[in-house]
Amino acid sequence: MHEKTVTHLTRRKPGYTLDRTFYTDAEIYQDDLEEIFFKEWLFVTPACELPQAGNYVTYNIADYRIVVVRGQDGEVRAFHNTCRHRGSVICREAKGSAAKLVCPYHQWTYELDGSLLWTRDMGEDFDPTQHGLKQIHCRNLSGLIYICLADDAPEFDSFAEALHPYIAPHDLENAKVAHVSRIVENGNWKLVWENNRECYHCSANHPSLIRTFPEDPRVSFLGEGDAPAYISEHFEACEAAGLAAEFKVPADGQYRLSRMPLVPGTKSFTMDGALAVPNKRLGTVEWDYAGVCNKFHYPSTWAYFLPDHSMTFRVTPISPTETELVTSWLVHKDAVEGVDYDLKHLTEVWEATNDEDRRVVEDNQLGVNSPAFEPGPYSPAHEVSVDAFVDWYCNRLATRMASLRSAAE
Ligand code: FES
Ligand SMILES: [Fe+2]
Repeated sequence: MHEKTVTHLTRRKPGYTLDRTFYTDAEIYQDDLEEIFFKEWLFVTPACELPQAGNYVTYNIADYRIVVVRGQDGEVRAFHNTCRHRGSVICREAKGSAAKLVCPYHQWTYELDGSLLWTRDMGEDFDPTQHGLKQIHCRNLSGLIYICLADDAPEFDSFAEALHPYIAPHDLENAKVAHVSRIVENGNWKLVWENNRECYHCSANHPSLIRTFPEDPRVSFLGEGDAPAYISEHFEACEAAGLAAEFKVPADGQYRLSRMPLVPGTKSFTMDGALAVPNKRLGTVEWDYAGVCNKFHYPSTWAYFLPDHSMTFRVTPISPTETELVTSWLVHKDAVEGVDYDLKHLTEVWEATNDEDRRVVEDNQLGVNSPAFEPGPYSPAHEVSVDAFVDWYCNRLATRMASLRSAAE
């Protein structure tokens, strides 16, 4: 870890934004990649992107090239997308389907489980069993595919267990991807997250979203004993309907799960508040007013699970001041566009919201870039979750720093 990162971490003022170095500096960005993104579990894709054996998606983060593929046995696996011959990328497209993975350079051919099946004229001493694709940790959590690039992946079972009751009713394995949007925000990945963690900005910036998304900050965070009656009643009604609802947050704050009411009278994230897919809903939630099951997991994803459809979001840093955001809208695999749903009705609220968030994040980055920027205070009413994100980030770096030091001693 760079000395600069350590110095700036120790200067952090609790309750205030980080200093500009954290949002602009190449060395801190490199530490963010190496100590966070290359070590944590990262969400890559909904499993329904890979319904059949041989379906694959590729994923790039920094210089890593990764392919996630469903094998003949139905298992989803992740591999480094770099040939064991002379290193060419094997799968060049964002997604595709292949009976075998064939390197385009000299046609070394791999099975879907990564083993090397065929080469040409490599000599008698060549051992194909030593030249399979390098495997990456990969887990399918209730229909969400996560990978981890670290040799030793962090413990993940407790998150998998916590997540399951919240999203099992949304039946993601029987979903299909109705729409994907990919945008690049000209802002540091932490600004993207900080913006996501509050709705202090919603009334002035999100005219479409606030038709259905409550601005009450307690929807994102509840302090000790301050659940208002309407939220407690919603939790009780959800639990009575067999739906996990109460806030679930681990001690380190890496994820949060909850099921929250939408604006009264609305059912889904649409302009009119109606269900987008009323007659072929994804999952088994029959109660139209069950609200939204919110999930986030640092550093790579948040998601929404509604009575009729679900949405996943993937955050990938590209540079100190650029972040990719990929949003996928999921509907029941048998739902037919134009018959069971209208694509504009399904997607327009979050297409608009993502674009509005891109603009506020980019304005935030431009202002933070100024040498005159100094960290400002968070609102105790609205930005507790932003502070919690920054806490998680700083604590992660501090923990990694301590373990690097003890390893060096
Ligand atoms: S680099 Fe892949 S076959 Fe040669
Ligand atoms: Fe927003």
